[in-house]
Amino acid sequence: MVVSDASGSSSLVQVFDSLTPQQMRERGSLKWSQYPGDVIGAWVAEMDLGTAPAVEAAIRQAMHDGLLGYMPPSVSEAAREETARYQRETFDWQVGTEQVSLLPDVLSSLSAVITSHTREGSSVIVPTPAYMPFLEIPGRNGRECIEVPSLTPGTAEGPTHWELDLGRIESAMAAGAGLLVLCNPWNPVGRVLTTAELDAVAALSSSYGVPVFADEIHAPLVLDEGSTHVPYATRPGSDPDLTFTATAASKGWNIPGLKCAQLIASGRARQQWDADAASSHLKAEASVVGALATIAALRDGRDWLDEVRAYIRANRDVVGEALGGIEGVEPTLPEATYLAWLDCRDLGLEQPARFFRKEAGVAMNEGVTFGAAWSGFCRLNLATGRRIEEETMHRIGDAVRRLRPRAS
Ligand SMILES: Cc1ncc(COP(=O)(O)O)c(C=O)c1O
Repeated sequence: MVVSDASGSSSLVQVFDSLTPQQMRERGSLKWSQYPGDVIGAWVAEMDLGTAPAVEAAIRQAMHDGLLGYMPPSVSEAAREETARYQRETFDWQVGTEQVSLLPDVLSSLSAVITSHTREGSSVIVPTPAYMPFLEIPGRNGRECIEVPSLTPGTAEGPTHWELDLGRIESAMAAGAGLLVLCNPWNPVGRVLTTAELDAVAALSSSYGVPVFADEIHAPLVLDEGSTHVPYATRPGSDPDLTFTATAASKGWNIPGLKCAQLIASGRARQQWDADAASSHLKAEASVVGALATIAALRDGRDWLDEVRAYIRANRDVVGEALGGIEGVEPTLPEATYLAWLDCRDLGLEQPARFFRKEAGVAMNEGVTFGAAWSGFCRLNLATGRRIEEETMHRIGDAVRRLRPRAS
């Protein structure tokens, strides 16, 4: 069942529309329990929208069957097969089951790739703004993180357009970097990278021999019909020996707590991954319930995801319209993901997310946690019910009007 953006006709839409902050607090997710009191949780990348009925049924079935132990090879094999099928059917990427490994989560696969596939003492390039752990994980694994702030050409003419700074990425590669983290779709700016951008990255990777860790966890969440996620590994210029792709059903189907992500690799990257002790250890750690939920999501949860994407699109419109009337807050609205990136620098606040949490009762992520260059920005999570989204916009608008009574 697919709903139109604004009709509110399906039962799922009615359920989402009726969600209240009170219900969310009673549910007690991290998003809603981290900040006590009358605070709307709009920060960590969890959705308030539950998960697909097929996923719920798979979890119930696992409980019924008592399948809550260690991973049986048959379940692991089925999850790897389903991942490969999903990539083939959705993104036209001809992945074979043998190229897919299961892992508990995408971040542990990044750690394993850094420790086992980058030279000791080399650095890791992270284009920013970046999902916060990308900035910490290199250091935890004895590698320097090189933040490359992205470019925003043409900001005067319309919505801000975020682009990788390929020149600085190349300089970092030329200086001996050991890995590039490529997040596509891009958290937090919500962009889907073009084939030209992917090809430019592939050309740099090949010419300097620098591996790419392509984090494609948000690929199921492309919102616009006109945008297409293209896996980095499908570009003819990307070198299989230098390419690791990480993905999971955890963002699209809202199940990050179930701990089952996938790493896809071929060529020498695959051989090295398979031979590596750290990755063998990780393969045994994916959860059986997570694997069963992943199979259900990818096989039978696609209609639910279509409805959720339509709902997030409509929330995005609500947010775009509301923020259009609030001077001092310039949003970058997502083509993919459920995350909006707000440029609040004109408000003149050092910590705008702190300001909005204290003064508006809206908890967002602070821009500077996405890279040193992004003080004055906030990340807003759009995956909530419509009434909560509208209330969030009222609160932000009121707080800005109190801050700048004459400007608004
Ligand atoms: C781009 C990106 N990668 C990875 C993760 C975390 O994935 P996992 O829980 O599988 O480590 C997130 C979570 O928000 C994310 O946005």
